Amino acid sequence: MQTRITRVNPKNPNIVQIRKAAKIIKSGNLVAFPTETVYGLGANALDSKAVKKIFLAKGRPSDNPLIVHISDMADLGILSDDIPKIAFDLIERFWPGPLTLVLKKSNIVPRIVTGGLDTVAIRMPKSKIATSLIAQSGTPIAAPSANVAGRPSPTIAQHVIEDLSGKIPLILDGGPTKIGIESTVIDLSKKTPMLLRPGGITLEQLQKVLGKIAIHPIIHGKKTRSAHRSPGMKYRHYSPKAKIILVQGPTSKANRKIIQLIQHYKKQGLCVGVLGTRNISSDFTIIQKDQNRMAANLFRSFREFDAKKIDIVLAHEISQKGLGLGIMNRLGKAAYKKIKA
Ligand code: TXA
Ligand code: MG
Repeated sequence: MQTRITRVNPKNPNIVQIRKAAKIIKSGNLVAFPTETVYGLGANALDSKAVKKIFLAKGRPSDNPLIVHISDMADLGILSDDIPKIAFDLIERFWPGPLTLVLKKSNIVPRIVTGGLDTVAIRMPKSKIATSLIAQSGTPIAAPSANVAGRPSPTIAQHVIEDLSGKIPLILDGGPTKIGIESTVIDLSKKTPMLLRPGGITLEQLQKVLGKIAIHPIIHGKKTRSAHRSPGMKYRHYSPKAKIILVQGPTSKANRKIIQLIQHYKKQGLCVGVLGTRNISSDFTIIQKDQNRMAANLFRSFREFDAKKIDIVLAHEISQKGLGLGIMNRLGKAAYKKIKA
């Protein structure tokens, strides 16, 4: 299959281009498109056959459910008929935006979308390309991140091309995504709200609205039997081919340790990269000045380390406050091992 790539202005998407993409969605085929978090791989969420194509193109395990994207509040009531009041409190504050709500699903949502669960994950993205594509398609769009399973989520169209070229008919290129890590996923289907995946909306922001929130133990890397509540989290994703070593500890100590480790691995003839907060000389150093930029560039850094054929990446642990929780969750999952400075 030939993959077409269309450039679209993210601030003011051309309606003719969006309609062409919507036609593909309506005909039961796939379109990759940017959201404010990462690029998604979309299909008509109410068409099981179309959704099956997502799983095939990504090589995604069938028990890992998809997020359904909507552009209009009217679609919420179609997808779930059991919406608690706290859902509306969160929606008012954070939609459109990088927050995904897990709710009891209605009968209209095909099982293939939810990986067999009786809940459905829903979000209204902020990206104009995404919302106009959904609106023009006239249907909610199921979309996981547009990467091959096990690869880092795409934050530029080129990443989607690397992973899915030849497998899908169209990629809408809206430039780099703003946030860079995926949406926050919160489960509202049980009595206590539970954070399933930290992301673009921070835990602190959610706590301000909800008060107490349970945190799924897997977020802090703990093994748990209740992994089924967050099916996607059990898969090791986000990883580059390079081995990431996460160095924990206060900045100056961690940087000293990183310098030591560079020498250690260089002696073994390995190519060593650094993902850090200070300019430390290595075969390929990426410095991250603040949390926002670190989130925006994290997945791109993973792919760049691979492109530079780096064997070992020494990454400095950052604070888990704010976006840091989501960033460290992705880094922790990608890490080959963690060491204390
Ligand atoms: O920012 C994002 O959320 C991006 C963009 C494209 O919107 N999408 C995304 O989708 O990251 P994906 O498929 O890569 O991640 C979806 C996550 C997985 O961890 C999955 O397990 C979880 O959402 N999820 C989906 N449905 C669920 C459900 N019913 N119960 C619990 N977790 C669910
Ligand atoms: Mg993903």
